[in-house]
Amino acid sequence: MDRYISAESLVCTLRPQRPVSCIRPKAAHNAAQYFLKNFPGHTLYAVKTNPHPYILKALYNAGINQFDVASLSEVAQVRENLSKAEINFLHPVKNRAAIERAYYEYDVRSFAFDSITELEKISASTNHSKDLTLLMRLSVSNRYAAHSLHGKFGVTSATAVTLLKDAAKRCERLGLCFHVGSQCLDPTAYRLALQKIKKITCTANIPIDIIDVGGGFPSLYPGQNPAPLADYFSEIDTALTEVSLPNNFETWCEPGRALVAESGSIIVHVDARKNNLLYINDGTYGGLFDAGLLGFRYPVKCLGRSGSTDLKPFIFYGPTCDSLDVMPGPFMLPSNITEGDYIEIGITGAYSSALRTPFNGFDKLQEAILEDAPMTSMYTSADSTNTALNLCKL
Ligand SMILES: Cc1ncc(COP(=O)(O)O)c(C=O)c1O
Repeated sequence: MDRYISAESLVCTLRPQRPVSCIRPKAAHNAAQYFLKNFPGHTLYAVKTNPHPYILKALYNAGINQFDVASLSEVAQVRENLSKAEINFLHPVKNRAAIERAYYEYDVRSFAFDSITELEKISASTNHSKDLTLLMRLSVSNRYAAHSLHGKFGVTSATAVTLLKDAAKRCERLGLCFHVGSQCLDPTAYRLALQKIKKITCTANIPIDIIDVGGGFPSLYPGQNPAPLADYFSEIDTALTEVSLPNNFETWCEPGRALVAESGSIIVHVDARKNNLLYINDGTYGGLFDAGLLGFRYPVKCLGRSGSTDLKPFIFYGPTCDSLDVMPGPFMLPSNITEGDYIEIGITGAYSSALRTPFNGFDKLQEAILEDAPMTSMYTSADSTNTALNLCKL
């Protein structure tokens, strides 16, 4: 893949007519190292967030060797790129054949479940093997998340104890996991979830080997104001001390967004301008799903006009014919931006290229590596709150 020192230099060289999906492997590396150094336990990567081989390798080279996957394709993708990585199949509802192939062909031993039927399915598909690690997914509040994942998965407290005791008989290692929702803006969410776990483990009174606090750790989108990651980690650490756990127990987390958001940028071309509406060549059906469906804002800059201080709020329209292909922003850009300009849209490394569709024929894009720093970062300052507050003013 071609490398450029910055988005500006890429645009000067290529004048691209298609969107360019840019990867900053160093940003993924830095985020991984931050988690490995500061999270009080093991860090897994949630592959669905961005399964690009460059990203998988950047994280692995930084020291992450456990991966959370949602499908057999992701199992294969990880194994193809990282032959020694540990793969954990933590989607709570899986296809029987996928479990079987994951276990027998790819050496996967850890699986999540959230019902008796899934538990029995895992047992049957692995020929009742006892070398399994089974993690029960608990339903927890997603109220602090910008993107709630609530409702689809998770055992409620009423059935948790019985199911956990049943699982204990079928595995070598037993765990509990949860997800507080993506882009969780308040560490309190993890404490509340761990308090729920405390009650369940006290009642069940069986040894727990793993508590997996899931993903949900935030990234720095303009207008959102997450606490520094260190606050999340200390909240988790403190809440865990209140759960009675055996000495050899492990804490896991499985972030996606926080590890890779900063490693992506998309360079788009302005195809037309109508007042405050910019028609760009990527959108909701392309790499900007979160900006369209969730209304997330991204940091933006008009390339070649870095000195411009006369900024105005713009709405983006994507290239398809569908009116859902709108990204309300607002995105602050030079007031004189016009057709033919290029915009770098930053921190698009999470849930971006992974969600790209061929709708209307707009899935053709270029890829490149950028060597400079991401447009914003949770990882540059010891107190990332300051950076977050500055971003809110954008
Ligand atoms: C089981 C599981 N783990 C981890 C993640 C990653 O979450 P996030 O990107 O919010 O960190 C997800 C996201 O959907 C998930 O479903």
